[in-house]
Amino acid sequence: MGETLERRILVTGALGQIGMELLDALSSRYGADSILATDIRDSNKLESSGIKFHKLDVLNKEEIERIIQKFEINEVYHLAALLSASGENNPELCWKINMGGLVNICELSRNYKFRIFAPSSIAVFGSDVIGVANQNSPLNPATIYGITKVSGELLAEYYHATHDVDIRGLRYPGLISWKVMPGGGTTDYAVEIFHAAVSGNRYTCFVDEKTTLPMMYMDDAIRATIELMEAPSENLSVRGGYNLACLSFTAEELFQEIKMIIPEFDCDFEPDHRQRYADSWPDATDGKQAEIDWGFKIHYDLKSMCYTMIQSLRQ
Ligand code: NAD
Ligand code: SER
Repeated sequence: MGETLERRILVTGALGQIGMELLDALSSRYGADSILATDIRDSNKLESSGIKFHKLDVLNKEEIERIIQKFEINEVYHLAALLSASGENNPELCWKINMGGLVNICELSRNYKFRIFAPSSIAVFGSDVIGVANQNSPLNPATIYGITKVSGELLAEYYHATHDVDIRGLRYPGLISWKVMPGGGTTDYAVEIFHAAVSGNRYTCFVDEKTTLPMMYMDDAIRATIELMEAPSENLSVRGGYNLACLSFTAEELFQEIKMIIPEFDCDFEPDHRQRYADSWPDATDGKQAEIDWGFKIHYDLKSMCYTMIQSLRQ
């Protein structure tokens, strides 16, 4: 890590599951006064943090440009998006926000030359990938969300190769965290189950017990994000989205691991429409390329992740 750049950072979609954690990490690393957090929702949650907040719709290109000029932004973490389950409920809106927002950010970077982080997802893969997805496995997603993520990866490669835009991306696995509830994804069950367990409630899981997906504890994901953004540009062989090493467990294994810590916890499995999205994704992702190019290694395993989640929620 560690290139010297005085960062003036814009975060879009900052009030979401990843944004609120990323803000904490960016603030500790670069200082709260170097960050402008934005979201389409209004909030006073950041008032005590010293981080500036501005309401911003990523479809409003003029307003993004005004902000980039005013704050002389040189790094954008573009997190605003609709996730898989919300996307399937409104495919047109999902396309509009996920693609429209990204094109606005890429176009502005052609002029203003800021570095971009634009996350991709395990949802780029489809059911033709069995078991472990490699960096170069086929990309045939079954959801509109996945289609926007594949298109976003292609856009990133295009803007980098043709317009010299310094854009970087990760294919995040399902992210497990305790500070903010997830926002309309398929992997949300792996967060909800902890909230139920710690509150003494029975949980009804919306995928079946055998469902296996790539997952990661949020601290590893945030570290991956910052390590990628600090990596020397010439080391990066992928611009659209790096696969990451991940955790891979069934919903039943997650339940049993939580039960080791909270023996009275109980869980039912009643799959709903989200089962289909989960079934179209791989069980795990191979993260060799990220390790070779910029040294990423995962730290949390299933046990330490469950322990940390429960301790944190109890506090
Ligand atoms: P989230 O739903 O928790 O947060 C997204 C934020 O974007 C919300 O606060 C929402 O208000 C905001 N937003 C929506 N429309 C907007 C608009 N038009 N303008 C500005 N803001 C808008 O999502 P997240 O989990 O924080 O995900 C962030 C990014 O990471 C997304 O691109 C998502 O696809 C990707 N990702 C997340 C996961 C995960 O498990 N959380 C996994 C893979 C990829
Ligand atoms: N966690 C995300 C979702 O379930 C995957 O990108 O939509």
